[in-house]
Amino acid sequence: MIGEFSIFDSSLKNNPLPAFAELARTRPFSQKIYGVDSLILSRFKHVEEAFVDFSRFSSVKPYIPGQESIDYFKGREILGFVDPPEHTRLRRNLSACLSPAAVKALGQEINLLLDRTLDELDDGSDNIEIISAFTHPLAVDVVLGVLLGLPREDFVIFEALTAEMCGLVDLKPGDQHSKSYDDAWDTAQEYLEDVIAGANDRLDKSKIISSLVTLNRQDHILDSEELLLQIMPLCVAGISPISSLLGSILLMMARFPQQFEVVRQNPSLVGGAIEEILRFDPPSMFSPRYAKGHFNYEGVDVAEGMPVYLIVGATGFDPAIYEDPLRFDVSRPARPHVIFAKGAHTCLGMHLVRLLGRLMLGKIATHYRAVELLNEGGYVNYCGSPQARDPEEIHLHFKR
Ligand code: HEM
Repeated sequence: MIGEFSIFDSSLKNNPLPAFAELARTRPFSQKIYGVDSLILSRFKHVEEAFVDFSRFSSVKPYIPGQESIDYFKGREILGFVDPPEHTRLRRNLSACLSPAAVKALGQEINLLLDRTLDELDDGSDNIEIISAFTHPLAVDVVLGVLLGLPREDFVIFEALTAEMCGLVDLKPGDQHSKSYDDAWDTAQEYLEDVIAGANDRLDKSKIISSLVTLNRQDHILDSEELLLQIMPLCVAGISPISSLLGSILLMMARFPQQFEVVRQNPSLVGGAIEEILRFDPPSMFSPRYAKGHFNYEGVDVAEGMPVYLIVGATGFDPAIYEDPLRFDVSRPARPHVIFAKGAHTCLGMHLVRLLGRLMLGKIATHYRAVELLNEGGYVNYCGSPQARDPEEIHLHFKR
């Protein structure tokens, strides 16, 4: 069993590969996390099984000391924290709005936005910090503008709340949300309440927030609190993972120049390259679940309500699924992965993320010969919520 491992240890984010490679071969085990017995699942088959078995592994969050730092929505019942069949009702309209066809229809707009942003980036500078100059602003534009239809001048409301959510990482067991968090939440809530009540007509009517409000006026599937809690996570949850993944794509291309060359010579490998980057440099660390009833899982006694940590980041290194998992190989034959979860809670943003990643890598591979990493010693520091791996700064030189 793995020794000093702690999934809440922020330093694990910086270099998770050694721990993930070991965890991917480790049987389920229990460990005290903030004094609470917790079950750790990190092999592909166990994580996959827990994602689909909501009769034993529930998404409904009880209060657990230490988990204040992942209580992004003030203990409210959002989509991600509800089990089927209730979850099926909450997800229905949103799922339609983020279907492959709905996302494909955004392709042209995203293409133009990418072209414009990459043009602005191409200012001849030798050293570009791409998280602040490129991936974060682009993620904000894509999520809040292209996808959700918010007017640009209102982005700041949700950017502020997103930053507060990332700041929860510093909360200790028993801590309350800070006043600045509560203020940011209240501002966002008031804004969305106006939108739902029809008192704010500045949103793009063809985009998701307006569509959800209209659909709900027709079918009344959700009450207004539920609708609010469906829209709020969309406004805040997608920005950091998109920015991180785009950063990770560029970082991997800089760290593995021969693999970048393979993509440049074979543009059809772009899609496979994105899947390999998600596996090898995962943007998320874990998903939480809570045991339903008492049972024995692979030799571990599991008590009612016990927190279960599904270490999704480790699953990409399971040798039972991936041959030679520590090799980064954009030509790797397609294999399943659970980085976007599986089953009822499968990530609703995955089609968008994949589209964006493919378009960006395709353009970079067409325009540049190489991408050079300029961070001192090649070292990248990671931050973000305990579940996320957000690169802090990535300095790059793009070679024509
Ligand atoms: C690389 C980027 C991303 C990764 C790795 C990722 C990963 C995940 C995972 C693992 C889950 C399941 C969590 C659980 O059940 O515990 C999830 C759920 C979800 N994701 Fe993502 N996500 C990404 C980007 C996005 C984006 C950009 C959006 C929206 C624009 C989004 C929207 C959602 C929603 C709404 C859910 C809840 C689905 C449900 O509970 O039914 N995600 N995501």
